[in-house]
Amino acid sequence: MRFRAEFTRFMMSYQFGIAELMTKINILKDEFTHIHHYSPIEHVTSRLKSPQSLLQKAQRKDSPITLDDIRKNIVDIAGVRITCSFIKDTYRIADMLTNQSDVTVTEIRDYIANPKPNGYKSLHILLELPVFMSDRVEQVPIELQIRTIAMDFWASLEHKIYYKYGGEVPAGLTDELTEAAEVANRLDVKMERLHEEITQAKVESQLDAPPLLPLPIELLESLAQRYRETS
Ligand code: GTP
Ligand code: MG
Repeated sequence: MRFRAEFTRFMMSYQFGIAELMTKINILKDEFTHIHHYSPIEHVTSRLKSPQSLLQKAQRKDSPITLDDIRKNIVDIAGVRITCSFIKDTYRIADMLTNQSDVTVTEIRDYIANPKPNGYKSLHILLELPVFMSDRVEQVPIELQIRTIAMDFWASLEHKIYYKYGGEVPAGLTDELTEAAEVANRLDVKMERLHEEITQAKVESQLDAPPLLPLPIELLESLAQRYRETS
């Protein structure tokens, strides 16, 4: 019974960690949309590992079943995934989050720059965030995955296929998946180039347009005042 209560408390801290990180992400998303009229974040999901898969993973990793060992050995109890529009945005969002003073990065695995042999791409960041509770502050570890829509599309299909075959995916299918990952990457590169071209065209058309100078009312008033004084 005591273990049960402790375990609930243990899991709760991860849930709070997710809530803290989601708040940070939502602030970036809203503020970005407000300032730039564009959000690099397409969508965000989060998940807390179920007690059952937590136990399975602990056994797979030969970790003793104590809360301290589980905390040390299993770094993805709390998981957050951000899907971005473009490759550049994944790094931009990563920088914005990891540069925050209460965020501690413990590990970065850049599978975008260095994809897995099967073609898997994503930016994985293991980080820790403080969670303030009634009687203590806890540094909660979270696995953050940042990827583009195309990378996410590929990963979710690959995941389904992997599970369908219980991990033993036929060689032909594996090759086709790796090929599909290359196609997804070409799409990402092309979309990003198009996006940049459009943004550039917009900037140029704004430069061509006659300048609209919104003058602050104080400035107008002081100009009017000076005009009256000199005339
Ligand atoms: P686990 O795979 O969780 O045991 O950890 P790891 O130490 O191998 O870490 P890694 O960074 O490789 O993967 C962590 C998570 O990334 C996984 O739980 C998946 O969510 C995702 N991931 C990693 N590789 C793949 C992949 O090949 N395909 C898909 N669909 N997802 C992957
Ligand atoms: Mg793995």
